[in-house]
Amino acid sequence: VLASRDGLLDVRLVAAPGVRLAGRDTTGWGYNGTSPGPTLRVRPGDLLRVRLVNRIGQPTNLHTHGLHVSPSGNGDNPFITVEPGDSYDYAMRIPAGHPAGTFWYHPHHHGTVADQIFAGLVGALLVEDVGGVADLPVSGDRLLLVTDTTLDAAGRVASPTMMARTVGREGELVLVNGQHQPVITATPGSVQRWRVINGCVSRVLALRLEAHRLTQVAQDGVFLPAPVDRDLVVLAPGNRTDLLVRPTRSGRYALVSDPYDRGGLGMMNGRPSTSGPIALAALGTAGPATTPPSVPATLPAPAVPQSPVTGQRRLTFAMGMARTGMGGMGFTIDGRTYDPDRDDQSVALGAVEEWTVVNTSPMDHPFHLHAWPFHVLAGSAGTPPTGVLQDVVLVPAQGWVRLRIPFSDFPGRTVFHCHILDHEDLGMMATVNVR
Ligand code: C2O
Ligand code: CU
Ligand code: CU
Repeated sequence: VLASRDGLLDVRLVAAPGVRLAGRDTTGWGYNGTSPGPTLRVRPGDLLRVRLVNRIGQPTNLHTHGLHVSPSGNGDNPFITVEPGDSYDYAMRIPAGHPAGTFWYHPHHHGTVADQIFAGLVGALLVEDVGGVADLPVSGDRLLLVTDTTLDAAGRVASPTMMARTVGREGELVLVNGQHQPVITATPGSVQRWRVINGCVSRVLALRLEAHRLTQVAQDGVFLPAPVDRDLVVLAPGNRTDLLVRPTRSGRYALVSDPYDRGGLGMMNGRPSTSGPIALAALGTAGPATTPPSVPATLPAPAVPQSPVTGQRRLTFAMGMARTGMGGMGFTIDGRTYDPDRDDQSVALGAVEEWTVVNTSPMDHPFHLHAWPFHVLAGSAGTPPTGVLQDVVLVPAQGWVRLRIPFSDFPGRTVFHCHILDHEDLGMMATVNVR
């Protein structure tokens, strides 16, 4: 963990090959020798400085996923390329009123994002609670950064087939903090905060903990107005959730991801397998049975600004035969593949817009917008709005979601895209310019 001091976190992240994954030496990639890389801890108001050193032999860059920071200049700028052998100095100011919660970082070099994350380039970024959550009766705070990858017998990270990229690759190994099925220990009667990050390239997680209900307290780094008990918590790629886990007696309980059908191409091999639950980790508890303290009835959720909507847009996520140059499918937004030099949406700074994202394809696509989190107002799947800002939402196959986006605080140019990162790499990304 690298934590800020006196309003500054100044770190060096060296992206390089050679990390341990699932207890094996691999050719995978990490930051500072590990995958996940170091956890970065900042506070609202801090300056975050990162020197990214590129030793992976291909272009890369860095994105701080979910942070509400300026996308301009040398901040969280997705248009920067750091060539092999080079380094780049990022600097971003976390606004003073930034929500405290669970975020993450990963490369964002268009065309190779999925490859680089699949190889291990991910890390967690926590904005620390300054007051507020101190009220939660938590005796353990754990990070569960979930990734997936496929390794061959020699420990090399496998390359996906074109079909797997089209559907969105899912690795054979699902890892938690780089480990295969780790045991998370706790004592009965304690309350554990689990911060779960779905860092998989394409896999949707449907989390369930044997013999326990999961109490959800935050989503995408923002506290909910009140805790919600759930049997199943669904996380699209890029989503985070903070859960309270309250074991009452000794035992070992599996944390699994249930099968989730995110659609496919409707042909053989064109659909990810949905064979059965996948074990992610286990909760291991030992000690006399005790009842944990109850959870507070309300949480320090940020107030929802009620400013009126000033504009409406409709976007279409589609897929079809297009010029991918690899004989594969093309993925488009409003009929176009990604062009970093084109402004796709121009928005006035301070506008509050309603965007309806329509998915005309037979697969779910998780919509993600950088820098400006949004409220989900409604969706074709009937999913109730959570009432808080979030940054990734699943748009169901042949369905839609309606979002309310406050473009506040700072101007800048950035991107929105499908967070099935193979789709993003195949073109399902567009730009937004706020000024
Ligand atoms: Cu987590 Cu633009 O991405
Ligand atoms: Cu992002
Ligand atoms: Cu997609």
